[in-house]
Amino acid sequence: MSSLLIRNLSQIATPLGNTAARGAAMRSLRVHEKSVLVIRDGRFAYVGPESDKPADLAIDEDFDARGATAIPGFVDSHTHIPFAGLRESEFNRRLQGETYEQIAASGGGIASTVYATRRASEEELVANVLTRAQMMARYGTTTAEAKSGYGLDKECELKQLRAIRRASETSPVRLVPTCLAAHEFPPESRNSESARQGYVATILGEILPAVAEEKLAVFCDAFVERGVFSRQQGEMVLRAGAALGMIPRLHADELSDTDGAALAAEMNCASADHLMQISERGIDALAASNTVANLLPATSFFLMADKYAPARQLIEKGAIVSLSTDCNPGTSMTESMQVVVQLATLQLRMTVEESITAATLNGAYSLRLAEETGSIEVGKRADFLLLDAPTYLHLVYHFGVNLITSVFRDGRRVM
Ligand code: NIG
Ligand code: FE
Repeated sequence: MSSLLIRNLSQIATPLGNTAARGAAMRSLRVHEKSVLVIRDGRFAYVGPESDKPADLAIDEDFDARGATAIPGFVDSHTHIPFAGLRESEFNRRLQGETYEQIAASGGGIASTVYATRRASEEELVANVLTRAQMMARYGTTTAEAKSGYGLDKECELKQLRAIRRASETSPVRLVPTCLAAHEFPPESRNSESARQGYVATILGEILPAVAEEKLAVFCDAFVERGVFSRQQGEMVLRAGAALGMIPRLHADELSDTDGAALAAEMNCASADHLMQISERGIDALAASNTVANLLPATSFFLMADKYAPARQLIEKGAIVSLSTDCNPGTSMTESMQVVVQLATLQLRMTVEESITAATLNGAYSLRLAEETGSIEVGKRADFLLLDAPTYLHLVYHFGVNLITSVFRDGRRVM
């Protein structure tokens, strides 16, 4: 039993609870002024004024926060980090006017990352995941989902998921794996409808069973999109994953409205992600469900899109909203949840309080971890950040810089 006292905090700001917050409840943060934290065995043992700290709570170690503000560690519930190769020249083409879809149609896009990822060894992918996890931690993430989806054949999808598992052993960030074999059709199966159906059959008959056999993924995901997987194919993949014990999540209504949000709600998916093109029907379906609307404003920003997801409508109708980076080499090359929170307020018009809830507790809920992390409360894992700021509002107010001075995961200082 070892215990750590964090003292000299200006504020502790956190959502509360072991489940998601929705609607107006997303705005209610608990703010402790001039309080302390006590961590014992990796979990919060006390949160509040030092004068009220139980006398029998022995302290072994003492940490001076020097006036910092503490908030829960960010939970980034949508990332594509086990990839090889970068795409800065495609990015530059987009800056000259080509669209993401035009570049993908000319052989770039996801396919170019698939070539590089297939060529990479498992060791290289482990190293890439760790490099990105370290960058994430530096910017305040303590838990991140990580998707495969740049292998698109059995061997390489397994290689990506094994790399996530191996990286977890030393990663500063807790990693939660998702199989996204249905991210795109592989180059060898793109030329005919029957080849495409053949790849769906491979996912159902070979890839998902092998992933389940090695217990490599908690979640299963699919990219339902115009020109990629149809709604019906996406549903088949998610049902097959669910039958093997993988919880579904869905890339939905990103570049076009394919009624993906309603499908995600119908299938009781953990999350429906992106939602830039979601319809009224989709918004209502999510609001009436426990499927989290996972918004990725850095993707709209990086794609220079006119449209951002309708966060205000989703919140006002009562949907559960979370925020993530979508970290990937094509549409969102960032590990920073601070940037995401800033875009959520300044572009999606979420309040700072809603954005913090979305980036912590609600993300944890979508990863089925809300009982363990996502808020600063006695009993939960001590995953939290210290910001060089007198109040939590500085997270957006003082934008574009890294405000993090320390990151703790399971009570251990990882940055
Ligand atoms: O979430 N939507 C599909 N997948 C990624 C893009 C991946 C890529 O371009 O490599 C996304 O935006
Ligand atoms: Fe994505």
